[in-house]
Order: sequence, then structure tokens, then C-alpha cells
Amino acid sequence: MAKHVFLMTGMLLGFLLLTAARQHARERTFPLMLFTQAKADDYLGTEACVPCHRSYVVSFRQSAHAPYMEGAHLPPERRGCEACHGPGAVHLREVLEPKGVIRYSKMTAEEVSRACLRCHGATMRPSQWHRTAHARASLSCISCHQIHPRSEKQPNLAAPMARLPGARKPSHPLLKEEEAALCSRCHAPQAAEFRLNFHHPLPEGRMLCTDCHEVHPDRESLRRVRLIREPCVHCHADKMGPFVFEHDPAAGWMGDSCLECHRPHGSPNPRMLKLFSRGLCAQCHTEKGVQHYPARNCWESGCHVAHHGSNTNPLFLSH
Ligand code: HEC
Ligand code: HEC
Ligand code: HEC
Ligand code: HEC
Ligand code: HEC
Ligand code: HEC
Ligand code: HEC
Ligand code: HEC
Ligand code: HEC
Repeated sequence: MAKHVFLMTGMLLGFLLLTAARQHARERTFPLMLFTQAKADDYLGTEACVPCHRSYVVSFRQSAHAPYMEGAHLPPERRGCEACHGPGAVHLREVLEPKGVIRYSKMTAEEVSRACLRCHGATMRPSQWHRTAHARASLSCISCHQIHPRSEKQPNLAAPMARLPGARKPSHPLLKEEEAALCSRCHAPQAAEFRLNFHHPLPEGRMLCTDCHEVHPDRESLRRVRLIREPCVHCHADKMGPFVFEHDPAAGWMGDSCLECHRPHGSPNPRMLKLFSRGLCAQCHTEKGVQHYPARNCWESGCHVAHHGSNTNPLFLSH
């Protein structure tokens, strides 16, 4: 017993040391080392940038990000331009030195993300970000976000979109363009599914991709297993149950839950169903042969009308 406790403590200590060492190594690499090596008087303030970069100062002041970076209460390394581009004095000592200033458009995806996560790591740890499909495909924060707005058309400056009741509210996510258009640009096959006859009302502007997809995993989402039905029943609460008689796939007890029968984006079939025949149910109920023959399909003949779950009938014949 005592031996085990000893071993566990040793492992924990080793883990903590390793984590600290990793953190330390990160802080010594570009671009974070610009901040860790800076002296207090290396920070010159935003006014110092005006003579040479006026247009960027103007564009930044229009952005939704600016109010978060003003105010004497902030430490200099979190204030104004230098919070993102590094201490001005280091840049001005050697103006053409590429690593003397943080140039987002000329950095690797990992370097960009590191610079942004210096502040945004509180809600989204670097290790979580680097496990996402987007980070692994070498996308960075600025594949989707734009800090310096370019035009009046950018949603940066536009009014927030109208949202469904109960859905999360976006603030000013500083996207390069309207979200649905942004995501569709890279995900053409999914965008095409939203053009099928029966689809979630995303092209109509009543939904967003991020109502279902989590672009930024946070601590909360790591702690729990995210079930496929979770975003679905958030909006379709009548399908959530619990019911006295649960139907395994709808209850999320098997397979892909709602997606055993529905397609999430759109479908050529009504109700976004995968199939619009008894074949839908026969995916699993192979034991029901041709003698168990409903007129058209298993739910429209007035029989299994409560296949999402029933409080009164174990065969889902009534709600
Ligand atoms: C005396 C003029 C001067 C001042 C003041 C100045 N810079 Fe620069 N900056 C330059 C020059 C010159 C370059 C190099 C341009 C190049 O490499 O094409 C540059 C490059 C940059 C770049 C990279 C631009 C690119 O296109 O790659 C950034 C970012 C930048 N500066 C930010 C700042 C910030 C933030 C401040 C204020 C703390 C600042 N600069 C102050 C002259 C200045
Ligand atoms: C929140 C972080 C952030 C702040 C604060 C910020 N910038 Fe930027 N800056 C960026 C990013 C990201 C880019 C890359 C292009 C884009 O997203 O618009 C950029 C691009 C630039 C560039 C062109 C170089 C390049 O890499 O494209 C210059 C010059 C620049 N910024 C100057 C400034 C000045 C001057 C200020 C202060 C008024 C400032 N920035 C404030 C994040 C920031
Ligand atoms: C010096 C700290 C700092 C850095 C560096 C920084 N941010 Fe922020 N950012 C903030 C703060 C503070 C907020 C306010 C809301 C919050 O805490 O999430 C914010 C808000 C945002 C928002 C939401 C805006 C809104 O209105 O809700 C986005 C998007 C964002 N940042 C993207 C970025 C990107 C992309 C980068 C890297 C280019 C970056 N930030 C770098 C401090 C920073
Ligand atoms: C694939 C596109 C995409 C990438 C890549 C991306 N974001 Fe976002 N971001 C979004 C969208 C869309 C929203 C608004 C909806 C939401 O909050 O999920 C958003 C919202 C935000 C917000 C404000 C909402 C919040 O959760 O606080 C911050 C801050 C932010 N992003 C920071 C970042 C940072 C930092 C990175 C890089 C590590 C990054 N984003 C990478 C698309 C992206
Ligand atoms: C610049 C291009 C680009 C943009 C913009 C973009 N993605 Fe992606 N996305 C990718 C790439 C590349 C992958 C990884 C390869 C793949 O699975 O297709 C990916 C993967 C995904 C996946 C699959 C995740 C997985 O685990 O397999 C989802 C879901 C996704 N993106 C949703 C979104 C959403 C939502 C948005 C808008 C907020 C968005 N993407 C914006 C390029 C992009
Ligand atoms: C109603 C919820 C919902 C909406 C809205 C939604 N998706 Fe999905 N999406 C899903 C589900 C559920 C899956 C399947 C996930 C799985 O199989 O793990 C999925 C899968 C994906 C995949 C991965 C496909 C694959 O074969 O791996 C991508 C990429 C994707 N969606 C992009 C998008 C984009 C882009 C948008 C917005 C234009 C969007 N989604 C809107 C629910 C949604
Ligand atoms: C952000 C809220 C939201 C989320 C999340 C959501 N839906 Fe929907 N769903 C809607 C809206 C809105 C409609 C359109 C209803 C209308 O037009 O009256 C809809 C329509 C449907 C329909 C067709 C209904 C009909 O009458 O034709 C089905 C089936 C459906 N959703 C299943 C799902 C599934 C499965 C998921 C999870 C992958 C899901 N929904 C996630 C909001 C949502
Ligand atoms: C066993 C197959 C199956 C599963 C699993 C399933 N559905 Fe359905 N769903 C159907 C069928 C069949 C219809 C068409 C019913 C009709 O037209 O009367 C339907 C209709 C719907 C509708 C539109 C009509 C209505 O009753 O509101 C919504 C919304 C819906 N399903 C959501 C969901 C959600 C959310 C889940 C997951 C919790 C889910 N479904 C799981 C088969 C299924
Ligand atoms: C993904 C697999 C799957 C699909 C698709 C499916 N079911 Fe089921 N169903 C089950 C499972 C598992 C049970 C409970 C275990 C069992 O007894 O077979 C069940 C139970 C039932 C029951 C209760 C009676 C019984 O056999 O226990 C009925 C009635 C039923 N399903 C009807 C339907 C109808 C109608 C459809 C099509 C709309 C459908 N099912 C589609 C997996 C599925």
C-alpha cells in the first residue's frame, strides 16, 4: 500500500516537472520569448507605432478586439499593438529583423496559435487546440479570424445575427466573413447537403454550423463525453426523454443515435431521413420479415408513431 502511494506520488511529481519543463520550453521559442525576455521599458505603447503604421492603428481601433486591450489597468505586455506584435523597442532596434516583431501572415500555424493562446489559453488550452482536426490540418486562428478589419462588409463591424431562442449568442467573433460562408468555403460537400430538398434551415440564416460543431473545445467539453444526440436534443427537446419506454437508438444507447435514421445536414427524403421506406427500420429489425408488412412504412401507417420513445406503449404504437 505505502509502496503504491510512494510510486503514485513519484509519478505525479514527474508529470508536474515534465509539464513545467514543456511550458518553459514553449516560452523560450518564438514568438513567446519576445515577451519573456522583454524588459519593462521595451514597451513603447500604441502611439509609438502611429508614425510608421497608421493604417493598422486605424483598422485595429475599429475592431471588436480593441476595447479589451485598452486601459491603464492592463500590464504593458497585454496592452495595445504590442500585446500581439511584441515589444516595440525590440522591433525598432533592428527594424528588418524578421523575428524582432510578430508577423502573423509570415508565421507557421503553430506559431500563430501560440501567440493568440498566450491570452486565450484560459478557456482553451494549447494541448486541446492542437488535437482538433483544424489544428492538425495546419489551420490557425487567423484562417478564420481577422483582427484588423478590411472593409465595412466584414461581420466584425456588423450587427450580431438574429439567433434562435435558446441558442448561444455570438458576440463579435471577428470572423473573416459570415460564418456559414466561411465554413462552406472549405467544406463544399457539406455545404451542398444544405441545398438538398430537406435540410436544416442554415441557408435561410436560422442556424449556424457552430450550433452543432464546436470549433474551440474548452475544459468543459473535454471533461464529458459529447454524445451525438446532445446538440440535437438541445433544440429538439421533445425528443430528449426520458420516456417510460425508450427506443434504444433514439435514447442514444446504441450506434450514432439520431443519425441512425437522420442525416444531420440535409437529405433528399422528408424529415431528413436516411431512407423513406421500411428499410429505415429494417436496418436493425431484420427479424421483421415481409409478413410484418406495413402499408408504406412503419410510422406513416398509424402504427409505430412514437418511435422516438413512448410513455404509454412499449411497441411505440402511441405517445
Ligand atoms: C520608425 C518606423 C517604425 C515604427 C515606429 C514601427 N515600425 Fe513596425 N515596421 C517598420 C518597418 C520599416 C518594417 C519592415 C517592413 C518590412 O519588412 O516589409 C516594420 C514591420 C512591422 C511588422 C511586420 C509587417 C509585415 O508586413 O511583415 C509589424 C507587425 C510591425 N512592424 C508592427 C509594429 C508595431 C506594433 C509598432 C509599435 C510598437 C511598430 N511596428 C513601430 C517600421 C516601424
Ligand atoms: C489581438 C492581436 C492584435 C493586435 C492587438 C494588433 N494586431 Fe496587428 N495583426 C494581427 C494579426 C492576426 C495580423 C495578421 C493579419 C490580420 O489578421 O489582419 C496583423 C497584421 C498586422 C500588420 C501586417 C503584418 C502582417 O503580418 O500581416 C501590421 C503592420 C500590424 N498588424 C500592426 C498593428 C498595429 C500598429 C497595432 C496596434 C494599433 C496592431 N497591429 C494590433 C494581430 C493584432
Ligand atoms: C493580450 C491578450 C490577447 C491576445 C494576445 C489575443 N487576444 Fe483575443 N481577446 C482578448 C481578450 C481579453 C478578449 C475579451 C474576451 C475574452 O476574454 O475572451 C478577447 C476576445 C477575442 C475574441 C472575441 C471577440 C468578442 O467580441 O467576443 C476573438 C475572436 C479573439 N479575441 C481572437 C484573437 C486572436 C485570433 C488572437 C491572435 C491573433 C488573439 N485574440 C490574441 C485578449 C487577447
Ligand atoms: C475553423 C474556424 C476557426 C478557427 C480555426 C478558430 N476559430 Fe475562433 N471562432 C470561430 C467561430 C465560428 C466563432 C464563433 C462561434 C463560436 O463561439 O463557436 C469563434 C469564436 C471565437 C472566440 C469568441 C468566443 C469564445 O469562445 O470566447 C474566441 C476568443 C476565439 N474564437 C479565439 C480563437 C483562437 C485563439 C483560435 C486559434 C487557437 C481560433 N479562435 C481559431 C471560428 C474559428
Ligand atoms: C481554411 C479552410 C477551413 C475552414 C475555413 C473551416 N474548415 Fe473545417 N476543416 C478543414 C480541414 C482541412 C479539415 C480536416 C480535414 C477534413 O476532415 O476534411 C477540417 C475538418 C472539419 C471537421 C471534421 C472534424 C473531424 O473530427 O473529422 C468539421 C466538423 C469542421 N471542419 C467544421 C468546420 C466549421 C464548423 C467551420 C466554420 C466555423 C470550418 N470547419 C471552417 C478546413 C477548414
Ligand atoms: C444540426 C447540426 C449540424 C449542423 C447545423 C451542421 N453540422 Fe456538420 N455534422 C453534424 C453531425 C451530427 C455530423 C456527424 C458527426 C459524426 O459522425 O461524428 C456532422 C459532420 C460534419 C463533418 C464531418 C464529415 C465527415 O464525413 O467526417 C463536417 C466537415 C461538417 N459536419 C461540416 C459542417 C459545416 C461546414 C456546417 C455548416 C455549413 C455544418 N457541418 C453544420 C451536425 C451538424
Ligand atoms: C440550433 C437548433 C437545432 C439543432 C442543434 C438541431 N436542430 Fe433539427 N431543426 C432545427 C430547426 C430550426 C428545424 C426546422 C424546423 C422548421 O422549419 O420548422 C429543424 C428541423 C429538423 C428536422 C426536420 C423536421 C421536419 O419537420 O421536417 C429533423 C429530422 C431534425 N431537425 C433533426 C435534428 C437532428 C438529428 C439534430 C442533431 C444532429 C438536430 N436536428 C439539431 C433546429 C435544430
Ligand atoms: C429509429 C429511427 C429514428 C431515430 C433513431 C430518430 N428519429 Fe427522428 N424521426 C424518425 C422518423 C421515421 C421521423 C418521421 C416521423 C413522421 O413523419 O411522422 C422522424 C421525425 C423527426 C423530427 C420531425 C418530426 C417531429 O416529430 O418533430 C424530428 C425533429 C426528429 N425526428 C428528431 C430526432 C432526434 C433529435 C433524434 C435523436 C434523439 C431522432 N429524431 C432519432 C426516425 C428516427
Ligand atoms: C439502429 C438500430 C435500430 C433502428 C434503425 C430501429 N430500431 Fe427499433 N429497436 C432497436 C433496438 C436495439 C430495440 C430494443 C431491443 C430489441 O428488442 O430489439 C428496438 C426496439 C423497437 C421496438 C420495441 C419492440 C421490440 O422489438 O423490442 C419497436 C416497436 C421498434 N424498435 C420499432 C422501430 C421502428 C418503427 C423503426 C423505424 C422507424 C426502428 N425500430 C428502427 C434498434 C433499432
